Amino acid sequence: MGEPRWLNFKTVTDGRGNLTVIESGLPFSIQRVYYLHEVPSGQQRGVHAHKELEQIVIPLHGSLEMILDNGTSSEKFVLDDPTKGVYVPKLVWRTLQNFSKDAVLLILASLKYSDEDYLRNYDEFLEFLNV
Ligand code: TYD
Repeated sequence: MGEPRWLNFKTVTDGRGNLTVIESGLPFSIQRVYYLHEVPSGQQRGVHAHKELEQIVIPLHGSLEMILDNGTSSEKFVLDDPTKGVYVPKLVWRTLQNFSKDAVLLILASLKYSDEDYLRNYDEFLEFLNV
């Protein structure tokens, strides 16, 4: 099982601004892309784990916090730099919170959407880890 980690994307900066590239060296091939935006103040997103899905989350604009919990320990990532993303392996309970009003979060996903891949209950998540 992989560990959560930061990914630094190549960024080309010149007088016309920044261009950030996500091209190769990713831990998985991208099957799906989606984004969160206009998340109301105080709202949490995520609050679940996935059996197989791996993701990379990138704050395109604004900021938020992501708590990643592998059932044993948890780690807080502050996402506020669009040149960096966080790799989220499978079987990690994720809670996204403290979205700034202007936050836009891009998510690259290793699999197409599947409701069966979700573990939405924390006890169910812990049980699944012990199987
Ligand atoms: P959910 O995964 O719970 O969102 P988050 O983890 O950001 O809080 O998904 C919210 C809703 O959107 C749910 O009804 C499923 C739907 N959905 C899709 O139809 N396709 C997708 O790719 C995703 C991620 C969610």
